[in-house]
Amino acid sequence: MSLDQQLKKKASDQVNEKGSIVKKDPFYPLYHIAPPVGLINDPNGWIQWNGTYHLFYQWMPFKAGHGAKFWGHVSSEDMINWKEEPIALAPSDWFDKDGCYSGSAISFNEELLLYYTGNVKNNNIREAYQCLAVSKDGRNFEKLGVQIEVPGGYTAHFRDPKVWQEHDRYYMVVGAQTEKEEGSVVWFSSEDLKKWQFGGMLADGFGYMWECPDFFSLNGTDILLFSPQGLSASGIDYRNIHQTGYIAGKWNKGTNQFLHEEFVELDHGFEFYAPQTTMDDQGRRLLIGWMGVPDQDEQLHPTIENGWVHQLTIPRELTYKNGRILQKPVEELKQLRKQQKYHLELNTQKIIMKDIPKASEIKLDIQANENVKIDFFEHLKLHFDTSTHYVQLLRPKLDGTGTEERVAVAEQLTDIQCLIDHSSIEIFINDGEIVFTSRIFAEPSNNKLTIQANGELTVWELAK
Ligand code: FRU
Repeated sequence: MSLDQQLKKKASDQVNEKGSIVKKDPFYPLYHIAPPVGLINDPNGWIQWNGTYHLFYQWMPFKAGHGAKFWGHVSSEDMINWKEEPIALAPSDWFDKDGCYSGSAISFNEELLLYYTGNVKNNNIREAYQCLAVSKDGRNFEKLGVQIEVPGGYTAHFRDPKVWQEHDRYYMVVGAQTEKEEGSVVWFSSEDLKKWQFGGMLADGFGYMWECPDFFSLNGTDILLFSPQGLSASGIDYRNIHQTGYIAGKWNKGTNQFLHEEFVELDHGFEFYAPQTTMDDQGRRLLIGWMGVPDQDEQLHPTIENGWVHQLTIPRELTYKNGRILQKPVEELKQLRKQQKYHLELNTQKIIMKDIPKASEIKLDIQANENVKIDFFEHLKLHFDTSTHYVQLLRPKLDGTGTEERVAVAEQLTDIQCLIDHSSIEIFINDGEIVFTSRIFAEPSNNKLTIQANGELTVWELAK
């Protein structure tokens, strides 16, 4: 058996041995992608290929912690039911032995191509290689090795290639750190996906490293989405250890000038990082993110004792309006609405429901501009104050030392949609203008929801 086969077998054995314990965990999600065992981080290779959605992910099968990453793989026809596929990549070669790090997928000549970063560490000295693997059937991948080395002027923090096609050319953005240890994104282009030309720097300006870049257009505006590291918290902004956001503008590839607006955070929740997008055959720009943040609280997650940690977000459709990206759950997720549990008119009186399932959707259409208070499972709280315009998310800290909060600002609230899945919540406010993505480790037997608002409330139980 080759080392590659051995590693993949060892990983599958872990799933076979420990997978059932993982799935029995009361915090394990119903309709989100989560690791079959071990740790999941970034979504990778997100693509609709021959009509089927494929999603790969950074995966550590041997422990609920980081290490030499594999690429796990799931596929779906409807973005609700995900099928386990054979492990796509294992860290088995000299150029990726310390991790098949993040990357993306593209379809070319009927083959599915994966571009990823080979992470190598020898005597604690890092090397990074942008590598390629190909598949004819979308299940079995053959590694073709190193395609791009780190260009002069950059350190080995050079990773996470995102590839796309525009007319008859291919482009790639890569997250990079300059020799001055500043975060940036660089780009390459190619005519044939074989020979890549270095195009230079696309953007820089703050932080010490920019991870997981993605580049796409929404309604004619160019968006560079990335996860910068090294931004300090400032007022209500940048409150997670590392952030995710975008700069929007116009990139002139001829002059290599990207004129853009200020950096905007994409999500205001406690756990959101390294999202990736793709365009599907309906022309939708679809995003999935990691519901985690590197170096943030992970060792305190209660799921670790059952052998797994982290999950991904639901797929979301992106649009662009008034200079802001809007995010909405993909339409398909409405199929999860199995039973309408409540449909109520609220008139600022406080109501308490004691039987809210841990897989549920809550929708509140707000009829009057009044304060809103929602308490989920006596654990997480969402408050809107009409005088400060603050939308506040509060939860107990995992280390037991009090409460933590995240804040966004809204002139007024018009609607709130919450998707709950055992240990996660995704809150979409004002048609997806403000989003809070967070893990929620409430007592599994607590099903209490308290709401005070003026509007129309609907609660569905979600089931597959
Ligand atoms: C982001 C990241 C990427 C890297 C991967 C390794 O979470 O650090 O930059 O490729 O995770 O798992």
